[in-house]
Amino acid sequence: MNNSSPRKVRKVVLPVAGLGTRFLPATKVIPKEMLTVVDKPVIQYAVEEAIEAGIEHFVFVTGRGKGAIEDHFDMAYELEATLKARGKTAAFEMLEGSRPVAGGASFVRQQEPLGLGHAVWCARELVGDEPFAVTLPDMLIHGRPGALAQMIETYNARGGNIVATEEVPESHVDRYGILALGESYDEDTHRIIGMVEKPKLEDAPSNLIISGRYILQPEIFDKLEKQKPGAGGEIQLTDSMIALLKEQDFFAYRFKGTTYDCGDKVGYLAANLAYALDRDDIAPAFKPILQSFAEK
Ligand code: UTP
Repeated sequence: MNNSSPRKVRKVVLPVAGLGTRFLPATKVIPKEMLTVVDKPVIQYAVEEAIEAGIEHFVFVTGRGKGAIEDHFDMAYELEATLKARGKTAAFEMLEGSRPVAGGASFVRQQEPLGLGHAVWCARELVGDEPFAVTLPDMLIHGRPGALAQMIETYNARGGNIVATEEVPESHVDRYGILALGESYDEDTHRIIGMVEKPKLEDAPSNLIISGRYILQPEIFDKLEKQKPGAGGEIQLTDSMIALLKEQDFFAYRFKGTTYDCGDKVGYLAANLAYALDRDDIAPAFKPILQSFAEK
């Protein structure tokens, strides 16, 4: 095994070029990453989670019709000047504190939605020769500290490549990348010995999924460069990780937190309930309404 020393993870790749077909008609014009959970676009939760984890540079892999994401992380000069002039300090500070610093974000277009692996490969020039994180923003993870901060702590202790994992019901394994695990290092960290993308239940080595957070070494780009389409006819990140597994260490990390798949309508609705109930300014008014529905 070729153990890479744990160089600092400074960059995150946010693939946001998918078409969001499961969320039509909402996603015809609005990128699915801009749908709001309570009062924040889904993408903003991912950016805040990465800021908390110490990430310094954000690489958004976008596509046609995703311009609202770039605008969202820009300064809204007139709005912010007005908030400041009117003394709306809390709102002003909230906007100011929730975007990457100037020069801290890059945007690259995938051009064609050929799959997640291809989207990550499109970030190669912006990432360069250093380890990096990948966050799939529609896998919203409610955790304290955030899932990426937990993973970076594990990465700093072990190096290699780290994949976030959790269990799903067996009936869901054909929707995700699935892990086969080897030796354990502690109750949350195991060596990965195999992976398969969207297997049939009978071919799945476990019900442990790849949960939308990765820390990868830059050699993944050489594998992605040569990657042939896999499940669903798409260029799959999992297939290139399988190729890299022959040369480098991969660890699965069971993060503490709850995942909501916001690319799916039911997952998105559940996220709205969970995040609303977690908010001191909203829960007291919202809980009785929710209870009245539960009694119906
Ligand atoms: P999904 O399969 O969840 O996204 O991809 P999708 O294709 O937008 O969704 P549906 O199935 O049509 O509703 C996982 C992540 O990979 C990105 C998506 O934006 C999402 O963050 N992705 C996927 C790309 O950036 N490019 C692709 O070609 C495919």
